[in-house]
Amino acid sequence: MTAEIARATRVVVRVPAKVNLELRVGPLRDDGFHDLATTFHAVDIFDEVTVTPDAEFSVSVTGVGEDKVPTDETNLAYRAAALLAERFDVEERCAIRIVKAIPVAGGMAGGSADAAATLVACDTLWGLGLRRHELEEIAAELGSDVPFALTGGTALGTGRGEQIVPVLATGTFEWLFALTHEGLSTPSVYAECDRLREGEDVPEPQPSDGLLASLRSGDVHGVALAMHNDLESAALSLMPSLRPLMEMGLEMGALCALVSGSGPTVAFLLKDRQDAVALRRVLEAGGLADDFVHASSTPHGAQVLVVD
Ligand code: C5P
Repeated sequence: MTAEIARATRVVVRVPAKVNLELRVGPLRDDGFHDLATTFHAVDIFDEVTVTPDAEFSVSVTGVGEDKVPTDETNLAYRAAALLAERFDVEERCAIRIVKAIPVAGGMAGGSADAAATLVACDTLWGLGLRRHELEEIAAELGSDVPFALTGGTALGTGRGEQIVPVLATGTFEWLFALTHEGLSTPSVYAECDRLREGEDVPEPQPSDGLLASLRSGDVHGVALAMHNDLESAALSLMPSLRPLMEMGLEMGALCALVSGSGPTVAFLLKDRQDAVALRRVLEAGGLADDFVHASSTPHGAQVLVVD
């Protein structure tokens, strides 16, 4: 007698946002991408993705920034499910429901996170049992930040950001993120970076030893000192209003203020939650950002929460 394996009818996956503690950008490559040396760091702002069997693929989005996310086949989560089905000859289809907390077009890899969560959810729903490296390969096809969203925690990204190696990091850091409703498109920020560096001899990107050593020892002051983003001047050039926000944050006790990824979200690193709450009050009164979110570092990546 063969035992029937019960198929899942609903899978829920939670996936974190990221901030780049360091983002070193090399010269423009022939394929239109840039080589990176970046240290990704996951923070506990989570999107939740639920997949259920359905006759066709579909996407629905609720939560923060829901009106700014496409729900057709251009949605990265839709593409993730379709690519996985195609690659593994899966005939089943699913409805994808996304509940967003990660800012949209904010430089925190929200779309990439949803794609990573969808890969993990569909792998479980369809009983594929894929290995980590198989998921990572498909993730890399979908976007440069998608493999990190699978892994979470703290990791070094090289290549165009898709080659991930976990980094030993101790300690939990406190963050305040200042959000701007108007997003910045990643390609336009990279293009602005190229424009600003025209004529310069851009070296191959290297991660800094200082950041990795500070992460190992959990030294928040060392991390604050070593944080760096080569895309920051491009983001500031496209959105100059970020500069007074960052300056005010530094004056008011932030250990570091850095544009997150391609922006426009600004990440403030604080000594503790109390300082983060105090900074939020001051910045809110200053009216220099549209919204604020507190977050702490998280070791998690895309994680299955529920299988029914
Ligand atoms: O890989 P992803 O789809 O997230 O990249 C979006 C865009 O960001 C690319 O089309 C490219 O313009 C830019 N990019 C880049 N170099 C990278 C990653 C992204 O130039 N390493």
